[in-house]
Amino acid sequence: MAAGAVAEAVAAAETAAERASGLAALADATSSCTLCALAEGRTQVVFGTGDPNAKLMFVGEAPGFHEDKQGYPFVGQAGKLLDELLAGIELTRDDVYIANVLKCRPPGNRDPQQVEIEACEQHLFKQVALIEPRLIATLGNFATKLLSGRPDGITKVHGEPRESTLGGRTVTLYPLFHPAAALYTPAMMKTLEADFARIPGLLGAEGTDKIGPAIEVAAGEPEAGEAIPAGVGVPSHDLAVDPDEQLDLF
Ligand code: URA
Repeated sequence: MAAGAVAEAVAAAETAAERASGLAALADATSSCTLCALAEGRTQVVFGTGDPNAKLMFVGEAPGFHEDKQGYPFVGQAGKLLDELLAGIELTRDDVYIANVLKCRPPGNRDPQQVEIEACEQHLFKQVALIEPRLIATLGNFATKLLSGRPDGITKVHGEPRESTLGGRTVTLYPLFHPAAALYTPAMMKTLEADFARIPGLLGAEGTDKIGPAIEVAAGEPEAGEAIPAGVGVPSHDLAVDPDEQLDLF
C-alpha cells in the first residue's frame, strides 16, 4: 500500500476489521523502512504484535537480539516476565498490543539515539492512532519520555497514570519500570508487580470483558531503590538474566 493510502487507512479506521487491515498495511509499509541507519544492521523490522483492537497497549524500548531474529517484540527474558505479569491480571499477549519505540535493533543493544527516535516515532504514533488503546503502559524511560513529551524519568513517574492527548485522542499513559530492569533489581520487581496490579482498575469496568479482577496489592512494598532486608522481597520470577537483553533501562 502506498504511503498516502496507509495514512488514509490510519485516519479512517473505525471498525475492528478496519483497524486490523490498517495495521497490516502499516506493518507492510514499515517492513522496508530506511528512515534511519538501524535499517542497515537489522535482520528485520519488529513492528509489533497483538490485538489490533486492544484497549491496553504496551510500549517498550527497542528490539534486542532475540526480537531482531524472531521478528516479535519481547520474546527474551523480559518478554517472559511480561507474560507472567500479564497472566497475573488474567491477560495474555493476545489480549493486548505490544510495540516498541524503535522498530529496529540498536547494535549491541545500546540505548536508542534521539535521531533514531525521531525517525521512528511516526510508526508508533500511527499504531496508536489505529489501535486507539484506552491505556498505554510505557515500559521504561524511552517510551515514557516519548509518549508523555516530558523529561521526567521512570523512577519518578512510575505507577502514576496521566491523561494525555495523542493524535487528538485522549489516552491514559501509565509508566512502568521496564521488565528487563526489574530482572536486575528485586525492589524494582516488587514495584513493577504492584504497579502492574493496578492495570485492571485503570482500565475500568466499561468494556473490560477480557480484564480480570483487580489484584490486591500488599501495603508497604518497597519502592525502587529502597533497601530491602536479605531474603525479603526476592522476586518469585525465576528468570535468568540474558546478556542479550537491553540493559540501560533505569
Ligand atoms: N524486547 C523488546 O521488544 N523491547 C524492549 O524494550 C526490550 C526487549
